[in-house]
Amino acid sequence: MDGRKVMLLTGASRGIGHATVKRFAREGWRIITCSRHPFPEQCPWGGGREDHIQVDLGDPAATIEAIAEIKSRLDGRLHALVNNAGISPKGPGGSRLNTIDTDLRSWGQVFHVNFFASIVLARGLKDELSAAKGAVVNVTSIAGSRVHPFAGAAYATSKAALKALTREMAHDFGPMGVRVNAIAPGEIETSILSPGTEKIVEGLPQRRLGQPREVADVIWFLCSDASSYVTGTEIEVNGGQHV
Ligand SMILES: NC(=O)c1ccc[n+]([C@@H]2O[C@H](COP(=O)([O-])OP(=O)(O)OC[C@H]3O[C@@H](n4cnc5c(N)ncnc54)[C@H](OP(=O)(O)O)[C@@H]3O)[C@@H](O)[C@H]2O)c1
Repeated sequence: MDGRKVMLLTGASRGIGHATVKRFAREGWRIITCSRHPFPEQCPWGGGREDHIQVDLGDPAATIEAIAEIKSRLDGRLHALVNNAGISPKGPGGSRLNTIDTDLRSWGQVFHVNFFASIVLARGLKDELSAAKGAVVNVTSIAGSRVHPFAGAAYATSKAALKALTREMAHDFGPMGVRVNAIAPGEIETSILSPGTEKIVEGLPQRRLGQPREVADVIWFLCSDASSYVTGTEIEVNGGQHV
């Protein structure tokens, strides 16, 4: 083991997670990544393949099992846990799944990936987070606080729950020296976006989509000493969408 700080990041293969890996790698951190697919060969960062764990966070037993594997790769300390993996299923033709027609099985699947995996990982790694006086960042969403034209009801409620979990965790993990915060992205240019988002951003104060690196910068802030007295809060990264 070397002296680098270590982050565990879920959903690193694309979008916001990918930009976050690049941000932390630039700062000299070691990043352990988790997602369903194997490590993509085209990714350039050093140590990426060895530090990738293939796990489906929608499967609670697999998530619990992954904790032992993650611990075996740490030297007893984890400086940051970023719960970023998320899914936002759509209906036929990309339609929004509302409270009336979302079947309970997919509702549960969304909650396992977007919500339960975050607390399972944080609880499972609390000793390592505490030993490093680490930080947890939960990636919520603008859809968690009001109805969104494209994000479905299961997604929105999972993100609202994740925001509430952030508050509860900040309370419980604080005495261990661990800070817990959330970031709520707005319309960020990634594969999760629906067609039609260009119309939404025309009306935003900043008149544009956000870039994954702009979200990664806020995650970085929340994991760095620059935010050492910030815990239990959610930072909106949305170009002023709700003003
Ligand atoms: N883009 C936006 O505008 C926006 C807005 C608000 C909130 N967010 C939130 O930001 C986070 C990242 O979004 P993104 O747009 O970057 O998403 P994305 O491009 O769709 O990437 C999602 C990541 O999550 C991983 N993932 C999905 N299901 C998984 C599972 N069952 N187990 C393990 N990993 C899984 C994916 O990797 P694999 O496919 O390899 O599993 C991928 O790396 C999500 O939590 C999302 O809800 C995004």
